[in-house]
Amino acid sequence: MVYLTRLEHFNAAHKLYNAGWTPEKNEQVFGKCANENWHGHNYELYVTVKGQPSPDTGFVFDVKQLSLLIREHVIEKVDHLNLNMDVDFMKGKMCSTENLAIGIWNELKKHLPAGVQLHGIKLYETPRIYVEYFGEV
Ligand code: NI
Repeated sequence: MVYLTRLEHFNAAHKLYNAGWTPEKNEQVFGKCANENWHGHNYELYVTVKGQPSPDTGFVFDVKQLSLLIREHVIEKVDHLNLNMDVDFMKGKMCSTENLAIGIWNELKKHLPAGVQLHGIKLYETPRIYVEYFGEV
């Protein structure tokens, strides 16, 4: 099995805020991330697919096509937007990096061609914080 990864990038705004809690509790739990007037991150998105290299091309998957799929089904939906307000697959969820990684997985999974297996999503929120998601087993 060979693992192939494509890196994409996007910027987005969000806030972490639980409407069932008081402003004080939100501030206590989420700190600056609860800032009412939003804040942004430069996200780095690593998408890994897996498979056997094709005898015809030597590729697990055409990485240009992978890039186009990620851009069409994820980047276009989140880049320069507000994750809490503008992104259909994050509606009603806490906009944490954890939930965003799951949302991105679900979006990509349904648009990858048959025969291409999604292996993992690695999503950097900052250069020192990232989340990995490998689907449910
Ligand atoms: Ni944040």
